[in-house]
Amino acid sequence: MPPPILDVRNLHKNFGAVTAASNINVSFTAGETVGIIGANGAGKTTFVNMITGYLKPTRGAILYRSREITGLPPRSIARLGICRSFQVSQVFVSLSVLENLLTAVAIASSPGLGMLRPLRRPELIERAERIMERYRIAAFRDQLASELSQGARKLLDIAMAVAGGPKILLLDEPTSGISTEEKQPLMDVVMEALKQDELTILFVEHDMEIVERYVDRVLAFYQGEVICDAPPAEALRDPKVQEFVIGGEYQAGGGHA
Ligand SMILES: Nc1ncnc2c1ncn2[C@@H]1O[C@H](COP(=O)(O)OP(=O)(O)O)[C@@H](O)[C@H]1O
Ligand SMILES: [Mg+2]
Repeated sequence: MPPPILDVRNLHKNFGAVTAASNINVSFTAGETVGIIGANGAGKTTFVNMITGYLKPTRGAILYRSREITGLPPRSIARLGICRSFQVSQVFVSLSVLENLLTAVAIASSPGLGMLRPLRRPELIERAERIMERYRIAAFRDQLASELSQGARKLLDIAMAVAGGPKILLLDEPTSGISTEEKQPLMDVVMEALKQDELTILFVEHDMEIVERYVDRVLAFYQGEVICDAPPAEALRDPKVQEFVIGGEYQAGGGHA
């Protein structure tokens, strides 16, 4: 086994009396695609926030390539190669698709100074255009982000998250707010684009068909604990996952019951 790219040890997070993460021990291998599932309030976003530096754990450690990153600010963690998208899209609605990507590319290429440098340098435009092609949003290049469909806006959001060439990408509910028909085509584009970079992907997802189709491994959360860590076929049949996550509504391989 190669050493893990990300190693989470005894991670714990309290919000007052609420335990949002409890004794989480899990490690990830480079190139894995991992689905994070769990009912609302189970601790999925808290987990993502701690890994990406948006929340400091109450205790425990996070190691990225054997280096401790626990409690570092989000920008430092992003610079090391761990990037994310949010549950609610973070694109600048009053900028065009190209301008949004140029901003992301500029920030990634000169951390801290990105916004101060001229954005329209040819090499930045070229890079932004390459990303647009891969995420199939080149047709909307000069449209305002506010005019995009939910699906295209999500693609832009994810494209911006990878502008800095991360090694690990965390996506918090990438298909939330997307219609059922749009979900699978959206994830096809995202996964195909991400696979080209051999990224390690952790994504929070409620749709078990999406989970079953795209992930190598499932982490199921319940009340801040990981209650199952297994390949999707196994995880979706796990009695605890059935009871606390799926509620018996979904049968692996058979769609919705
Ligand atoms: N900033 C916060 N302050 C207080 N409680 C929070 C905060 N963030 C999350 N929580 C609580 O922690 C638990 C886990 O929340 P969260 O990680 O957002 O769950 P999920 O993403 O799985 O829906 C919930 O009980 C939630 O109310
Ligand atoms: Mg959440």
